Amino acid sequence: MTRTLWRRANIATFADGAATRTPYGFSEHGALVTEGDRIVWVGADDALPADLRIGAEHDLQGALLTPGLIDAHTHLVYGGDRAAEFEQRLHGATYAEIAKAGGGIASTVRATRAAATEQLTERAVARARVLMAEGVTTLEIKSGYGLSADDERRSLKAAREVGLRLPVSVCTTSLALHALPPEYAGQADAYVDAACDWLRDQHAAGLVDAADAFCESIAFTTDQVARWFTVARSLGLRVKLHAEQLSDSKGAVLAASFNALSCDHLEYLGADGVRAIRESGTVAMLLPGAYYFLRETQLPPIAALREAGVPIAIATDHNPGSSPALSLLLMLNMACTLFRLTPEESWRGVTVNAAKALGLDDRGMLVSGMRADLAVWDAEHPRELAYRFGVNPCRRVVIGGTECVA
Ligand code: NIG
Ligand code: FE
Repeated sequence: MTRTLWRRANIATFADGAATRTPYGFSEHGALVTEGDRIVWVGADDALPADLRIGAEHDLQGALLTPGLIDAHTHLVYGGDRAAEFEQRLHGATYAEIAKAGGGIASTVRATRAAATEQLTERAVARARVLMAEGVTTLEIKSGYGLSADDERRSLKAAREVGLRLPVSVCTTSLALHALPPEYAGQADAYVDAACDWLRDQHAAGLVDAADAFCESIAFTTDQVARWFTVARSLGLRVKLHAEQLSDSKGAVLAASFNALSCDHLEYLGADGVRAIRESGTVAMLLPGAYYFLRETQLPPIAALREAGVPIAIATDHNPGSSPALSLLLMLNMACTLFRLTPEESWRGVTVNAAKALGLDDRGMLVSGMRADLAVWDAEHPRELAYRFGVNPCRRVVIGGTECVA
């Protein structure tokens, strides 16, 4: 197999653990060698072993080389949009009021059910391409706007199809416990039972990699989520949770007891929640796009998370209602400006910690043995990408060792 050399790079490896670790794992005059879909060597340009037998060579002339970005929380599959709701909110209605009146998630459910599977797929593929053009090489996609056996299955199929039509890696998540569909009004427990049955079928069909829920007064209780998680666990699926977004519903404590991969949003997370997710090794997934778009004022407890050493990830949360953002680079900037994360913390949030949030231990760092998922940027240092916004300095994207055009 031919080996490919990427040389004269300003390289940010995000490698963990080494005593010699520099911020961002950054060094100038770096080089990296790939073979097939793997990285086989990383080091200084002048330290390249002579016997590596390089087949192809790219001179990066000082451009920045980083791991491909990982967007570990998206709702990319849905019909319609919610621009009219955005307008309503600007006339004074709140997100929760709109949801209670049958708008919000329910209106996207209607549009999703009305859309053909191919249309759902094409729109999700188009959105994924936009993310990829900014260096995204791994993507999580949730269902949650179908909310019936057939429409949830179609949504997960569309999500899987994104990973088949594009080189990007896709992890699928069933979010059937996103909202109560109208046909189950007043029967939330019966809905949870039905959703658990669908999950068994989706799992048997190979459509689902993880299970998620929305734990909130306008969505599902901790008891209902616990039943859903119990079924997920019995199928060998890892869980994650939309927790403490609008109130402290104690979702994170519950999720931690199921060893959740991540707890997401977390604006209202209390000290008990921080302790619980630290102990379970759960990633805190912060979503600055939703915070910004809903004009939240309650900040997630960043200082407490940092002090506890909880790994923090950042994602777009792309969805039509609370975060119609399709730029992970913008989230990098917002995590700094709105949440006061440092540029390095934000970067780790879209690389190493995002990989952890998906339970993937083969990516998120430029280290020998990891997947060759790379991004090349028109920048000298990673902090520049957290600093600028509204520009796309991504020049090249490599996924599994193959350069792709998004
Ligand atoms: O992640 N919090 C719940 N779900 C989405 C919003 C969904 C919607 O409004 O359509 C979120 O923010
Ligand atoms: Fe979400």
